[in-house]
Order: sequence, then C-alpha cells, then structure tokens
Amino acid sequence: MPADSTSPSPVPAPGKGPGVQRLFSTIASRYDIANHLLSAGLDFLWRRRAARIVRAWAPARILDLATGSGDLARTLARVCPGATIIGVDFCLPMLRIARRKHLPHLVQADALRLPFADATFDAVTIAFGLRNMESHERALAEMARVLRPGGQLLVLDFSAPTGLLRGIYRFYLRRILPRLAGLITGEKHAYEYLGSSIENFPHGEAMNAIIRASGFTTAACQALTGGIVSLYTATRAECLQSRRQQAISDNS
Ligand SMILES: C[S@@+](CC[C@H](N)C(=O)[O-])C[C@H]1O[C@@H](n2cnc3c(N)ncnc32)[C@H](O)[C@@H]1O
Repeated sequence: MPADSTSPSPVPAPGKGPGVQRLFSTIASRYDIANHLLSAGLDFLWRRRAARIVRAWAPARILDLATGSGDLARTLARVCPGATIIGVDFCLPMLRIARRKHLPHLVQADALRLPFADATFDAVTIAFGLRNMESHERALAEMARVLRPGGQLLVLDFSAPTGLLRGIYRFYLRRILPRLAGLITGEKHAYEYLGSSIENFPHGEAMNAIIRASGFTTAACQALTGGIVSLYTATRAECLQSRRQQAISDNS
C-alpha cells in the first residue's frame, strides 16, 4: 500500500476524468451543504444504511472509492470502529474537505488505476462515484482486482425511479435541481451535468449484469426512496479470469 497522501500527485488523465476532476474542484467547498439541502437530509440516511450493510460483513480493511469530501468514509469509521478505512479520490480539493473530518488514510488516485496490490481489501464501497467514471466496467474490474476473493462490494448511486415518479423526477432533475443548486453553489452547469448523468446511468438489473460481468459472482439491488437511489451489493468471484471468460461466452 502506498504512503497516505493528500498532496498533489500525477494522476493519469482518463477521457472523462479531467472534466469531472475540474467540476468537483469547482464545487468542493459547497459540495456537502448542497448535498444535504438538495436531498433534504436523506443523504445521511442513505450513507448510514450503506454503512450498516458493510458492518455486517465485519471487514478489517475497507476501500472507499470516490470518497470525495469523506462523508461515507466517516460514517463507516463510526459504525466499523475496528476497521482500517482508506479513502481514495482523484480530486484534491474534495480530499482537503475530507481531511478536515479527521480521516487518517486518504490517497489521491484514479479509481481506474488503483495504486494497490491485488486482493488488498475485504470490502470496497463507492457512493455517488461510479456514475462519474469514464468506464463503469473498467472501474468495477479494478475494484474486483483489489478485493480479496469472496470480498464484498457496495455501490450506492442515484437511479431513475419507475412509474409516475419517473416523469416528476425528470422534471426535477432538468428544471428545478440546476436552479436550486445554482443558488447554493453558484455552479448551475455542474448540476445540469448531474441530472443528465443520472438519467444515463444504468440501474437495477442492467447494473447487476454489469457488476457480475466485471468479476463478481452475485449482485443484488435495493431501491431506496422510491428508486431515486439504488444500493448494489456483490461478492468478488474466487477467480477473476474464469469470470471474464464466462462473461465473454455468455455474450457470444
Ligand atoms: C459525487 S462525489 C461523491 C463523494 C462521496 N462518495 C459522497 O458520498 O458524497 C463523486 C466523487 O468521485 C470522484 N471521482 C470521479 N471519478 C473518479 C476517478 N476516476 N477516480 C477517483 N475519483 C473519482 C470525484 O472527484 C468526486 O469527489
């Protein structure tokens, strides 16, 4: 494992990465307050729910990817007091906010090229981060690589609700959210991106299938708050190579 570092380090730039890095650098100082206001405080409940699931796995070493301002890592630290939690993000201004929350292990790195050896962690978590990544499959495969065989994955992210709520939610994402967020952060365009990223992000069974094809044996999804957020859990396959071969033959 590399030395903990929140000082600038050369981060290889993926196609979508630099734009996302810039976006989070711009909103970092107001990110937490915007989250809490725009979700009416529900984000605390979603992260607590996620952390309780992780606690039941009793992991000794947890990697919290796209840790950002560190809210999930901090919740994990509270509910899993014996675990070592490493928070990773490629955006330094976000990590600076996390550092103020007394998280001792923060590393600046790209989730698509993690600076950890194979099978380092018992659990990997990622909250509201996978959606922003250049390739969901590559990010998940990298998570599988650093998880030990039988280790656990938890992904928490926004999703599009179904039924009547879908149209209302789309209206909120397109018309209301950017305006509200613009007032809070002064960065309306950043939240226009948020809405479109949510609408385009695979969810439910489609996401379960992507997770399974990326090195995991099981994948389950729970819809929270009427489906505006989904929580995925999965178990890392015993052998990654055979999973890849199976995914290829399943698709042929
Ligand atoms: C919406 S924030 C989520 C922060 C935190 N997990 C939470 O629950 O509030 C998304 C974070 O993902 C990070 N991120 C996006 N792509 C990344 C990548 N390829 N590698 C590392 N971090 C990434 C961004 O810098 C940002 O801090």
